[in-house]
Amino acid sequence: MSGSAPRPPSINIRAATGDDLDAIESLARRATRDLLGPFLSASQRKASMAFTPLDPWLIEDRTYYVVEIDGVIRASGGWSHRAPMIHVPDMDQEQEPPEMEGAASIRAMYTDPAFARRGLGQMLLGFCEMSARLSGHHQLQLIATPVGERLYERCGYTRVGATKLKVPQGVTILVTRMEKVLTAKPEAIRSKAAC
Ligand SMILES: CC(C)(COP(=O)(O)OP(=O)(O)OC[C@H]1O[C@@H](n2cnc3c(N)ncnc32)[C@H](O)[C@@H]1OP(=O)(O)O)[C@@H](O)C(=O)NCCC(=O)NCCS
Repeated sequence: MSGSAPRPPSINIRAATGDDLDAIESLARRATRDLLGPFLSASQRKASMAFTPLDPWLIEDRTYYVVEIDGVIRASGGWSHRAPMIHVPDMDQEQEPPEMEGAASIRAMYTDPAFARRGLGQMLLGFCEMSARLSGHHQLQLIATPVGERLYERCGYTRVGATKLKVPQGVTILVTRMEKVLTAKPEAIRSKAAC
């Protein structure tokens, strides 16, 4: 065999830990600036860079994942069974947040701009959906940024409403509430199998 074929990258998906927080924060800043930025006005762009730290309960619950390519984190994202769907940094972190009613949510998806539009977001979203399904969830909801909406629409999420998200400096960003039914409930699958 000739040695000219490109070497395939080493790809690793794993649950994030506290040790990954600096790398995730750097990734989130770059993704927000370069991938969300083009969808925003100048004032929205500036305000969106006032970074909100990652919800620590995502790490605590082991439902936040990183994708490493050749040992470097190139994408991150996760899901949660807890309310609210958007991280409120001022919330008392000692107090365990309540369960969401009726569904789980997709949270904090980021791709390294140098790896954008290569399927990492789509792949990680599918991974989160599988993890949520294995945990017994049948439906996912989310609040999508304008660029996130493109990804989620492509992955079968439907729009259920729009809302204005308050970001710092008195600025708002129009975000979209979306949802996806993952699978029929187990009773429905059983009754189908019986036919
Ligand atoms: C949203 C995000 C995670 C997508 O990551 P990604 O790895 O580039 O996404 P993928 O390569 O899997 O894209 C899959 C599909 O989504 C759609 N899509 C993704 N980014 C898009 C963009 N900038 N413009 C238009 N469509 C886009 C396309 O249909 C794309 O398929 P295609 O490339 O074959 O046309 C990334 O843009 C990001 O980090 N954005 C900034 C942070 C953010 O807003 N996150 C969403 C929170 S709700």
